[in-house]
Amino acid sequence: MSGRLVAISNRVSIPRKSAAPGGLAVGLLAAMRSRGGLWFGWSGDLTEDEPGETDVVKRAGVTYAITDMRRELFEHYYYGFANGMLWPLFHYFLETFRYRDGYYDAYLEANRFLAGRLQALLEPGDLLWMHDYHLIPMARLLREERVAGPMGFFLHTPFPHYEVLRALPVYAELLRDLCAYDVVGFQTANDLNSFRDSIQYVWGEGAVRDEKSVFVDGRRVRVGVFPIGVEIESIRAESESSQASEQVKRMVRSVGGRKLVIGVDRLDYSKGMVERFDAFQRFLEASPDSHGKVTFMQIAPLSRADMRSYESIREQLEGLAGRINGQFADTDWTPLRYLNRNFSHDILMGFMRAAHVCMVTPVRDGMNLVAKEFIAAQDPRDPGVLILSTLAGAARELTNALQVNPYDTRGVAQTIQTALSMPLSERRQRHRSLMEVIRRNDIHAWHGNFVAELEAAGSKQPRAARRK
Ligand code: G6P
Repeated sequence: MSGRLVAISNRVSIPRKSAAPGGLAVGLLAAMRSRGGLWFGWSGDLTEDEPGETDVVKRAGVTYAITDMRRELFEHYYYGFANGMLWPLFHYFLETFRYRDGYYDAYLEANRFLAGRLQALLEPGDLLWMHDYHLIPMARLLREERVAGPMGFFLHTPFPHYEVLRALPVYAELLRDLCAYDVVGFQTANDLNSFRDSIQYVWGEGAVRDEKSVFVDGRRVRVGVFPIGVEIESIRAESESSQASEQVKRMVRSVGGRKLVIGVDRLDYSKGMVERFDAFQRFLEASPDSHGKVTFMQIAPLSRADMRSYESIREQLEGLAGRINGQFADTDWTPLRYLNRNFSHDILMGFMRAAHVCMVTPVRDGMNLVAKEFIAAQDPRDPGVLILSTLAGAARELTNALQVNPYDTRGVAQTIQTALSMPLSERRQRHRSLMEVIRRNDIHAWHGNFVAELEAAGSKQPRAARRK
């Protein structure tokens, strides 16, 4: 059976709009481009009254269907519940987590609204694939409207340990809603284990009697680990061809033969940028020889900027960047360049190829595709070095990166030194083995494996049950 793939996510990377932020948009865009199908979600626009019709456009084999949302509902669902509660909780930021039950109601209502809009676009035989914490209840809501057929869910973020999850008053409802899917996928074995543990706490040992499934309310839910990857060939091509672009050439000229350390992250408190700036400061203090010879460029486009927790991390970073440059800059050298803007994907890949070191040091991350992009963007004859947090999902696979604990300021500072002075032979050898890993688990393996599981779940359903 090979039905149309319908991907559903809050954020849709529609080509005519400017690039959507984050790993979900990058990964899913590559998957949809290669597989084709329908991609449904929020348009990025808000209305004061009921939104108009769903906008449908076709581009290169993918149909994009996007809907506006009513401002108040969106704010409560997206800022209030999804990013005010689930995001901090799933990333172990309990001090940022605040619960308001009205936001949960809005979350359900927004999911119901999106499910309704989606239903009008569905065809018999469709394979539905929902993405991320914004849309957990969607399968249940669709099933209540008698939509049958295979539905899968992939969580791009970490899934927290039960002891953290249960701080959420509605955690059992969320778990039950996850069990309305046929397939639930996670980035790493840790996330899957946390999920299985939570299911066991709520429904007992019988619910987790088989490694590959959980059993709740008489249903079998297939569960698995599907580490998201990147599209190696297109990154290699982008990173090579953009070397000739004016933007990359200007950046390289301005670095003026110094060693370039790069960081690329959405401005988010989970990305460990405060700790990273501290470590860079410690490195400069400990290595006077590096003064004038190393430039750290942190690209950090703004994200969810209307939320207090994001404003506060932004203020901290601005203060730190100012202090570091105030302390170390010279008339002809600015050690830290801090940019709150985004660049097109090919230019970013070009910057990465030009960098000697990339710092991917989140304090918690589901996977982190920047780490994989950096590897794919390197020139294999003269590759840069990846410094990677042990607390990123990617650390499970990328064992040949220089791994650090992002909170260990001294350790990270020393690792910057190690990375900058690593001999070519070691850089090549590490890069070769990292390439093997990201090739094995590339973006095609990710969607291919998930969709195969979804198809297998679909073929087990009686035919009559698949009608809408
Ligand atoms: C992370 C999340 C995605 C989200 C992205 C950008 O990668 O897992 O679901 O789309 O951040 O965040 P935003 O709130 O701007 O969509």
